[in-house]
Amino acid sequence: MTKQANTNGPVIDVIRNRWSPRSYSSRQITPADMNTILEAASWAPSASNEQPWEYYYAFNGTEGFQKLHDGLVPFNQTWAKNAAVLVAAVARKNFAANGNSNNWAQHDLGMANATLFLQASAMDIHAHGMGGFDSHIISLALDLGEDKELVCMIALGYLDEADKLAEPYRTRELAPRERKPLADFAKQI
Ligand SMILES: Cc1cc2nc3c(=O)[nH]c(=O)nc-3n(C[C@H](O)[C@H](O)[C@H](O)COP(=O)(O)O)c2cc1C
Repeated sequence: MTKQANTNGPVIDVIRNRWSPRSYSSRQITPADMNTILEAASWAPSASNEQPWEYYYAFNGTEGFQKLHDGLVPFNQTWAKNAAVLVAAVARKNFAANGNSNNWAQHDLGMANATLFLQASAMDIHAHGMGGFDSHIISLALDLGEDKELVCMIALGYLDEADKLAEPYRTRELAPRERKPLADFAKQI
């Protein structure tokens, strides 16, 4: 099932086809494919080419996966336990060259995340971002210093049937994707 975006203009397919599922199959992501997805993220633009992103990832069935899963809120733990890979997306808050605060670190991590999501989607691998996690638990498990910020968690995997999910997940899985109209967020000036 692809929940293709119902676009008005000729938006490219990789964007139309990306969506955030919660039903993941037991098919694993190969390390080579995972490297490709992560490499794609690295080609995102960033302020001063600082590349202020760091990704900590773990394959399902490993201790690392359990660590990341333990830090998710219960709502996310329920479905994300079946993801093939869990990823912690971290921003380095200061510029490496001079230690000054990088005001674009979160922005640039978001750019890298979007690139990662689209690369995964083009490979039939679905990414699902999560803000529902305990930052303290995961930051401690990853031994993140003061200069690093855990911004979001990402589940990755191959799609499975919506019927595998309990409610309310199943209904959400089947709901059409919706967006605000262009006029609500883009103003020609
Ligand atoms: C930063 C971020 C945080 C999110 N947090 C959660 C979350 O904690 N749990 C969840 O199930 N979905 C979460 N989502 C997924 C969004 O709900 C989803 O992207 C949005 O509804 C649009 O749907 P689509 O990605 O299928 O187009 C998050 C997405 C992002 C980018």
